[in-house]
Amino acid sequence: MIIPRRDFLQLFGSSITTITTSALVPAFNETRAKSTVTKEPKKILIAHRGASSYAPEHTIASYQLALKQGADFVEQDLQVTRDGQLVCLHDLTLERTTDVKNVFPTRYREELVAGSPTRRWYISDFTLQEIKQLDAGSWFDSKFKGARVPTFQEAIDLVRGKAGLYPETKAPEVYGKLGLDMERLLLNALKKNHLGTRSSEQHTPVIIQSFSAESLRKLSGSLKTKIPLVLLINDEMRGGWLTADGLKETKQFASGIGPAKALLDKDLVTQAHAIGLSVTPWTFRLSDKGSFKTLSDEMKYFLYELGVDALFTDNPDLFPRTR
Ligand code: G3P
Ligand code: CA
Repeated sequence: MIIPRRDFLQLFGSSITTITTSALVPAFNETRAKSTVTKEPKKILIAHRGASSYAPEHTIASYQLALKQGADFVEQDLQVTRDGQLVCLHDLTLERTTDVKNVFPTRYREELVAGSPTRRWYISDFTLQEIKQLDAGSWFDSKFKGARVPTFQEAIDLVRGKAGLYPETKAPEVYGKLGLDMERLLLNALKKNHLGTRSSEQHTPVIIQSFSAESLRKLSGSLKTKIPLVLLINDEMRGGWLTADGLKETKQFASGIGPAKALLDKDLVTQAHAIGLSVTPWTFRLSDKGSFKTLSDEMKYFLYELGVDALFTDNPDLFPRTR
């Protein structure tokens, strides 16, 4: 699904309801044309780990279903293998979503978790060839048996031209200590695929997200990317970032904030928009709709009452395109 350029103008640079007639996205060129029309911007649907309510997260099946359900963007949480390959997986370790314990029973590290010895199979201890032997589907449902952990390249190959990519640099500081430069790997992968450019934005827009402000600073600073960047914000980070000063600071290196949905209210959305930051909360799913009658009702409230620009959901099929 290709999204009209004007809809991205709102997400990339501002929530202002004025649509520029310029052919340029603000992330690449802040210049605005004088001739304008007024229209409510399109709300953006990001499929969280794919359509992960219905298929095992971060598998090709989950991404395919997200595309079928009309996702504007498909999210990839990124990790790095021992041999420096980007793969799509949420956790730093493999045991929750694969059968690594059976395939490589001795390849764990033992750590104390809340005082108890716990076995962990870190992605960074395995080569891509080893990770590709794992079943990443059966934990979710036996009908997905044999699903593999996708590489970022495989995600690009699938999504390109049909929706946007929304990669997250996950724990980049952990990989940095191992000599694995996640930000550089990510930008190199995009460059190799001719993505993250002004022309590719029309068919395959890219937005990079991270909980690490340092990662985003590096991307926009020393690595000089012009790709839109979104700072994810969890409860622990709220004191530092969801303040007037924190938002101003964010604007120095990012084009938007991605707060946990529980941290948002109308005032915060208004403040962020006033300084030109987009707002993209997470995560909307059937199993966590709070006091709302339906998940669509909850998403409607955030999109059309609080006025957020986009949101992450495990249930792309329930995204309300209109009020
Ligand atoms: O990236 C948005 C949301 O996914 C952040 O939480 O832990 O699911 O990556 P997490
Ligand atoms: Ca994520």
